[in-house]
Amino acid sequence: MNIPERYLGALLEISQEINSIQEPETLLERILEIALQQLSAERGFILLKEGAEQKLLPKAARNIDPAKISEVSEISATAVQKVLASQKPLLTFDARSDESFDAAQSVITHQIRSIACVPLLLRGKLLGVIYIDSRQQTARFNQQSLDFLSAFANQAAIALENARLMEALRSENELLKGEFHRIYSFKEIIARSKAMEPVLELMGKVLNNTAVVLITGETGTGKELVARAIHHNGRRGKQPFVALNCGAIPENLLESELFGYKKGAFTGAAADKKGLIEVADGGTLFLDEIGELPLALQVKLLRFLQEREVLRLGGSQPTPVDVRIIAASNRNLTEEVEEGRFRKDLFYRLNVIEIRLPPLRERKKDIPLLAHHFLKKFSRSLEKNITGFQPGALEKLLAYHWPGNVRELENALERAAVLASQNLISAEDLVLSQVSAAGGVEAGTTLEEVSRALLEKTLRSCEGNKTRAAEAMGVSLRWIHYKMKEWGIE
Ligand SMILES: Nc1ncnc2c1ncn2[C@@H]1O[C@H](COP(=O)(O)OP(=O)(O)OP(=O)(O)O)[C@@H](O)[C@H]1O
Ligand SMILES: [Mg+2]
Repeated sequence: MNIPERYLGALLEISQEINSIQEPETLLERILEIALQQLSAERGFILLKEGAEQKLLPKAARNIDPAKISEVSEISATAVQKVLASQKPLLTFDARSDESFDAAQSVITHQIRSIACVPLLLRGKLLGVIYIDSRQQTARFNQQSLDFLSAFANQAAIALENARLMEALRSENELLKGEFHRIYSFKEIIARSKAMEPVLELMGKVLNNTAVVLITGETGTGKELVARAIHHNGRRGKQPFVALNCGAIPENLLESELFGYKKGAFTGAAADKKGLIEVADGGTLFLDEIGELPLALQVKLLRFLQEREVLRLGGSQPTPVDVRIIAASNRNLTEEVEEGRFRKDLFYRLNVIEIRLPPLRERKKDIPLLAHHFLKKFSRSLEKNITGFQPGALEKLLAYHWPGNVRELENALERAAVLASQNLISAEDLVLSQVSAAGGVEAGTTLEEVSRALLEKTLRSCEGNKTRAAEAMGVSLRWIHYKMKEWGIE
């Protein structure tokens, strides 16, 4: 190859320039432009092998009507075919007088005088071709221009490969970022452990649709937090989020709470009243402790889920309501269904997407993160300056089994923040409940005796506040009421 001085300098400059272009489309345009400039030619195009079938497709064209690109490839078909077959550059000084082009009618009709066509080769692999032609007497290509074009094509092939790799990396990066975003974007939820990944992934998937979601998990695992995060981060975020604890409201009031009533529907119904389903119209209705919903109301809720209309008590005209339902339960609903306490048909309606929150003891990796998070929160609200933990304190948290899960951890840290006399929480500041099985319970004691003793003890420590006792014991308020009556506890 014999490249003249003036081309060598240009080649160096060009190679630097094209290697800085990282976007394949832009790069191809520039490659073609440079080739045309250097050869004082007016028309050209680049064909590249693409896709699984490695079909040659026109990628950049100059002075060629894009609509006629197929005709162009026909004109150049002979030249291109030859280059593809030989993988060698091809040059014709005057296409009309070149015998080998006799068959190509188009060469004559288009009065092409010079054609230069070079392969784009990368480590011996053919990526495509650069084709350039000219109808002007002045732009007759010669061997030097072809040598230049070949050398340039080698540089271009490398730059192109780089740009393609960059683009692949970029899109993969975007994809990963998207994935990352989708999985970890709930700023209110602290979760870095493997066990929480499916939770966050599912949350991402249900954000922007209206699918019914069932959140299950032990007490204090963050069911309500997750429900709120789904609502606030989703399309309905600006609409109301209405929460109803199905276990906290007396059965006879639940129906009117949920569905509303018409004036005069019963004594005391002095005016029309919207039910919570209607209040949540456009937004989300969170049905907490769904396992506590009485059977009669289960039927009505099922009907609502099927019809998406509410009929107020004493009303005759149903109203359509657009509400997303998120239900939560810390009971095993499958068991409830088996024992006839929960309707199977409603269970299937609710269980479209189940988000299962793992207990804290199965995501120990999150404990230090959560501990620091709560510490910061309470340090601020107590206007103290607690900055961290003394040696041994986090170990104590990690060793504990957390029956009350994140809520218990939160409470333990609040107490510790109050007690702490220094800037660092000590192991002694962390008072963890030791309701161990060994503690005072004799073998042979019945479960009922233990439950009763525990209920009495909890009620005393909660100063008779049944809601707090229910929370502390991880049972429903209804259970507390029921057992107090059954066991005659005042
Ligand atoms: N991953 C988490 N990151 C930060 N805070 C959390 C996380 N999980 C739970 N919490 C906090 O722990 C407390 C308990 O969470 P939440 O009330 O959502 O639990 P729950 O599953 O609804 O409990 P229950 O079954 O007793 O109703 C809340 O103060 C909540 O903000
Ligand atoms: Mg809850």
